[in-house]
Amino acid sequence: MSEVEFIEVLSNEEIDLIEEAASHVPDRPSAAIEALQIVQEKRGWISDQSIGAIARLLGMSAAELDSIATFYNLIFRQPVGRHVVMVCDSVSCYVMGCDNLRVAVEDSIGVKPGETTADDRFTLLPIVCLGACDRAPAMMIDDQLFGPVKADDLPGILEQFE
Ligand code: FES
Repeated sequence: MSEVEFIEVLSNEEIDLIEEAASHVPDRPSAAIEALQIVQEKRGWISDQSIGAIARLLGMSAAELDSIATFYNLIFRQPVGRHVVMVCDSVSCYVMGCDNLRVAVEDSIGVKPGETTADDRFTLLPIVCLGACDRAPAMMIDDQLFGPVKADDLPGILEQFE
């Protein structure tokens, strides 16, 4: 990627924020997750071009950064809707009925896991344990945790997200 393309991919604000994050860690690649979060906050997801530009800024390979981005469930490597609904499918939530909750969510918003509604309002994704097993079955919308969630709770929860 040429220098011009590199600049076009990341805004000056993104570069400044990433540089700020990198200044607080002993080596630049240690700022990888924070850098991914900074760019995702601005753009909603992390494209291949963003991976290349962030990796170059942090002095690491695109493959290294891509493997970090892929490992973290909350970094999205494909476009998502305005809100991301994540229904936990790990053990405690499974025992407490997350399958029923997921089906109720699917029915409410009209898409299957991995899909985005036609109006771009919601993307539905599975996620591993949210660390809220005492609130199973649990789900997260963007950065807000809900649980235990019953199907009847869904309309009131979903209407908070336009
Ligand atoms: S298993 Fe669902 S929050 Fe832990």
